[in-house]
Amino acid sequence: MRVLLVGGGGREHALALGLADDPSVEMLVAAPGNPGIASVAELREVDTADPAAVAALAVELRAELVVIGPEAPLVAGVADAVRAKGIAVFGPSAEAARLEGSKTFAKEIMTAAGVPTARAHTCTDPQSAADALDDFGPPYVVKNDGLAAGKGVVVTDDRAIALEHARECGRVVIEEYLSGPEVSLFVVTDGEAAVPLLPAQDFKRVGDGDTGPNTGGMGAYAPLPWAPPDLVDEVMTDVVHPTLAQMRHRGIPFTGLLYVGLALTAAGPRVIEFNARFGDPETQVVLALLETPLAGLLHAAATGTLAAHPPLRWRDGAAVTVVVAAEGYPAKPRTGDVITGADRAGVIHAGTRRDADGTLRSAGGRVLCGTATGPDLAAARDAAYALVRGIELAGAHHRSDIAAAAVESRIAVPD
Ligand code: AMP
Ligand code: GLY
Repeated sequence: MRVLLVGGGGREHALALGLADDPSVEMLVAAPGNPGIASVAELREVDTADPAAVAALAVELRAELVVIGPEAPLVAGVADAVRAKGIAVFGPSAEAARLEGSKTFAKEIMTAAGVPTARAHTCTDPQSAADALDDFGPPYVVKNDGLAAGKGVVVTDDRAIALEHARECGRVVIEEYLSGPEVSLFVVTDGEAAVPLLPAQDFKRVGDGDTGPNTGGMGAYAPLPWAPPDLVDEVMTDVVHPTLAQMRHRGIPFTGLLYVGLALTAAGPRVIEFNARFGDPETQVVLALLETPLAGLLHAAATGTLAAHPPLRWRDGAAVTVVVAAEGYPAKPRTGDVITGADRAGVIHAGTRRDADGTLRSAGGRVLCGTATGPDLAAARDAAYALVRGIELAGAHHRSDIAAAAVESRIAVPD
């Protein structure tokens, strides 16, 4: 199979490793890719937000499968443009990607589908925002309505900060606070059939103990030893299938990866958000445990043949990834610093670039991820932190508590 992978972050490096491992893949090109991906794929420059440019590249490469990693190309209609050339695409149409691109649209679909989620109001002026904040009370949850790279959400007890975020964003969704551990569940779907991957947990706040501002994600682990055994079945029945049915009913079937972000509250699982693509950095841990060839799975979803795909096989044990972030991330990441110690198996490149002389430099807020598997979560965690300790990058920071609470059995679903 000839595969074109669109994107160039840590998630795409993990996807590239999975695709390159699939014996059916005879060509793997990543656009634009990154220096880590370059070890398993040919890199091509492309403007990933330009549907015509990506479609032309797919045609030139005679790609048989295009896998779109990030949300921005999906929302821009890259999947539509590639599909119009008769090429199989893993990733939803622009219209279906609104499940991620518009929080208001996502709430509308969830309400119509009867999916359990936080009660919410969409507000476009300071008065309605103030009324909504007072309706729900603290902690306040204020979300930018559009795409914000994981940084559009403010959760705070401070009403003035909540109001200020609403004013800055213009159009916001203000919602009820959901209390309970968070889960990321990825579901591969062709619009009708749906296959869940292993549930993972992400660490959204920048600091240890879930302190500081939200980020794109500072680390992840899978599987979740504390999750109720029937969690995945319950989410498939109560969330995924009703949502996919509602999308079909509206004539905008969702194909690709439905990322269900959940809080496990005392009242049961509640959807925090949908994303229209693999999560980053959860993909690094989920794919590290997937034994089933990845290209075949994504191709089945892209061609409407997922119902005939064999059941997934998983490796035993656990996986942990720890993000190494640039100085100043998430507010104002500094880039251009020299990196050493990154050329080892398990070091995933997220925001890096290579000079002509081979020097590796930081090129984004999240720079690298140390990703490791092990026979259990404690072993995987030790191995991931060993990788991180081997990386040198001036001013870098990382969380020191990724997967720690799970290893120490300190996570419980409230009852
Ligand atoms: P989102 O971009 O919607 O995933 O939100 C980012 C993060 O904000 C989530 O992972 C949660 O940690 C937090 N968050 C979002 N919505 C809520 C909510 N309704 N209640 C509690 N925390 C939330
Ligand atoms: N890790 C969170 C996200 O990908 O949105």
